[in-house]
Amino acid sequence: MTDPTSQRSYDLVLFGATGFTGRLVAEYLAERCRDGLALRWAMAGRDRSKLQSVQSAIGVEVPILVADAMDEGSMRLLAEQTRLVLTTVGPYAKYGSALVAACAAQGTDYCDLTGEVHWMRAMIDAHHETARRTGARIVHTCGYDSIPSDLGTLALFDHVERTHNKKLTRITHYAGESKGGVSGGTIASMLAMMELSSVDRSLRKLLANPYALNPDPAEKGPDGPDPMAVRFDDEIGLWTGPFVMAAVNSRVVRRSNALLEFHYGKDFRYTELQSTGRGATGLARASALTAGLGSFMVLLQNSKARSLLAKRVLPKPGEGPSRTTIEQGFFTSRFVGHGDGVTATLTIRGKRDPGYGATARMISESALCLLQDDLPRKGGVLTPASAMGLALVPRLERAGIRFEF
Ligand SMILES: NC(=O)c1ccc[n+]([C@@H]2O[C@H](COP(=O)([O-])OP(=O)(O)OC[C@H]3O[C@@H](n4cnc5c(N)ncnc54)[C@H](OP(=O)(O)O)[C@@H]3O)[C@@H](O)[C@H]2O)c1
Repeated sequence: MTDPTSQRSYDLVLFGATGFTGRLVAEYLAERCRDGLALRWAMAGRDRSKLQSVQSAIGVEVPILVADAMDEGSMRLLAEQTRLVLTTVGPYAKYGSALVAACAAQGTDYCDLTGEVHWMRAMIDAHHETARRTGARIVHTCGYDSIPSDLGTLALFDHVERTHNKKLTRITHYAGESKGGVSGGTIASMLAMMELSSVDRSLRKLLANPYALNPDPAEKGPDGPDPMAVRFDDEIGLWTGPFVMAAVNSRVVRRSNALLEFHYGKDFRYTELQSTGRGATGLARASALTAGLGSFMVLLQNSKARSLLAKRVLPKPGEGPSRTTIEQGFFTSRFVGHGDGVTATLTIRGKRDPGYGATARMISESALCLLQDDLPRKGGVLTPASAMGLALVPRLERAGIRFEF
């Protein structure tokens, strides 16, 4: 079947190219095009002159589209002109809804970097059925949240099925050593979510639900609350504590399972932890992490503390880690799976700072995968694993993110 969007002016519109992460995405796409990638792309944002400055700074000349995220007409126009929108305009709960609505209605593919579970829930409820009808693939969480978690789980599960003809029944993901930084946009998204949850009880209940993103979030499964304690893990012989992004990633992995018609099984269990090392140092790190994360969350519940942190301590929107931090950064994710008498492991090793250098590559390759790879065209509000599946793995490897079984 021919793609009904193939006649549009652009393959890809990058929305938010003037932001910290958007600019890294623009640089990566420009680099891919210089290496011979055929892509009709444009940059969009609310300020033409700022977009022109980005273009001259990175040495690329592509059409510029001026569009405001808060204007529904402007978002409709954007979605009509392109086969796919890659957006880094966040906080998404503040700026993202009109664009998702427009893409779902126009059958335009879409990917973003949100980690805002309550907003994803709202987008699923409002647009999943429309996107299914129009064929639009709306794919949230195409960055460090939640590609390693989601693709790592799918890759390990399928590897064991292929090589042993067995099914894993549980996978634990240990986020290992990493080096990187944080941007003002990420902080703004986190603070906005904390502000809402401090006054909205139903939101707190939703965020605590391990199946918050499943088609029916009221349907229970075998997984309980995210682990929050310091624990020595006999499996890997290391100390562990809570992983800061588990409350997002685990929901995405569970939604993938449901959207893939329970490919991993209805009793499949998924857990995410931070591993902190061996011996006394590992224990001290796990204890500091657990106490630090707990205190930070309590602090963020307080509106005065939030505004003080935002004004005085944390980076502002548009700011982020230095070039050196981005280039010298890295991350390691280890997956251990069990089931049917088999134990199997997968390690994902990524070059560059996970939240920005690696994330810019992950979302760019996700977009290219949706545009260029032979995937089943099944619309809806999807996840990386259910939309792109293992087709994304060789693309990630090419971008410096290795999968080692
Ligand atoms: N999941 C992950 O792994 C991951 C990693 C990195 C970032 N993120 C998320 O990505 C998002 C962006 O982060 P960032 O640090 O790049 O943020 P940022 O530097 O603050 O960039 C925000 C972008 O949004 C644009 N924007 C704001 N309001 C707009 C409007 N009304 N219309 C059009 N454009 C508008 C800004 O344009 P101007 O330049 O004109 O202000 C800018 O281009 C955040 O939500 C962050 O949480 C997620």
